[in-house]
Amino acid sequence: MFFGGKKIVAVDIGTSSIKLAEMDGGRKGWELKKFGVVTLNQGWVKDGEILEPQSVAETLKTLVSSVKCKRKNVSTGIFGNGVIVKRISMAPIEENLIAEAIKWEAEQYIPFDISEAAIDYHIIGKENRNPADNLDIILVGAKQEFVFRFIETVESANLKCSILDVSGFALANCFEANYGKPEGLTAILNIGAGVTNLVIVEKGEVIFSRDSMVGGSTYTNELHKAMGVSIPEAESLKISASVGQEVPPEVNSVISSTTEQVVDEIRNAFEFFIATGGGGRVNRIYVTGGSIFIPKLVEEISSAIGVAFEVLNPFQQVTYDEKALTSDYIQQIQSISPVAIGLAMRDMKEV
Ligand SMILES: Nc1ncnc2c1ncn2[C@@H]1O[C@H](COP(=O)(O)OP(=O)(O)OP(=O)(O)O)[C@@H](O)[C@H]1O
Ligand SMILES: [Mg+2]
Repeated sequence: MFFGGKKIVAVDIGTSSIKLAEMDGGRKGWELKKFGVVTLNQGWVKDGEILEPQSVAETLKTLVSSVKCKRKNVSTGIFGNGVIVKRISMAPIEENLIAEAIKWEAEQYIPFDISEAAIDYHIIGKENRNPADNLDIILVGAKQEFVFRFIETVESANLKCSILDVSGFALANCFEANYGKPEGLTAILNIGAGVTNLVIVEKGEVIFSRDSMVGGSTYTNELHKAMGVSIPEAESLKISASVGQEVPPEVNSVISSTTEQVVDEIRNAFEFFIATGGGGRVNRIYVTGGSIFIPKLVEEISSAIGVAFEVLNPFQQVTYDEKALTSDYIQQIQSISPVAIGLAMRDMKEV
């Protein structure tokens, strides 16, 4: 096939860093070929919005050259405040009329001006659907301006934005590649720096996705305010406490009060799922993201929701090129790589 040779490079632009991943897929499954991370300055990306596209693009260029990435077709994921994912039900209509109908329907579900929104959708349970049944749809609305900023950033780094995904969907993709399609409902929680993605999957399909504007930066900011230290100092106090080094007692008390705040936000997201018709019980929460190491955070979330947790291992089934990547490195990137890995598994045929 003409496009068959076009390989994807995944670029996950997060609040604290950009992750880049190259994978190869074959009948034997997926293999990670290259991976790289570069730190972003504070304030360049906030709540999923790229505030400094040129600075982020320059940083992305350095990452591309440091990992010697030759691929040009990027798959990236949008997330945060400018993206809304909603499950809606619609009276059955012919497939070729759905897109138009969605445009009309979307207006009432998208909390920002529809004329400035990019809309996409996915039909749930398409395979076993009875044509007379209502259509069960996952609607995605994104602020066009947010989307443009992602494209602009990628293209300013001399790459081509070929696939634009939602980070939560990429997480679900990574989960499925490693754990298949477990019975019942599974939650995936990615606790990053600025944003926590909650995704709920059922039979391999995303049925809910919601981002909360909390994460590791919430802790850093609270330590900064409460202790009168600089942001970098606050960040390093947080990391020290998380790896079990001795820290002033105030650090631990700020961390535990911040945890209450973060747990409340995440509990709200779960409650929103239930309130918006999410039937059934979540069997397990798979946690990932750089902030899962915050002392007791994941345990507190698990007990607040009443569901057991497990750390998501993106290398449960996905393998890696042992000639290029060491097992120590793979261990290090375990909690920050799932979105990039999920994005890297999209292929050009889906464009
Ligand atoms: N050992 C650790 N202990 C505690 N926190 C950590 C540790 N290592 C990294 N972090 C925190 O994890 C966060 C980075 O995680 P991650 O890379 O998943 O976020 P991101 O993708 O940049 O942000 P987001 O997804 O929110 O946009 C930072 O807030 C960082 O301080
Ligand atoms: Mg992230």
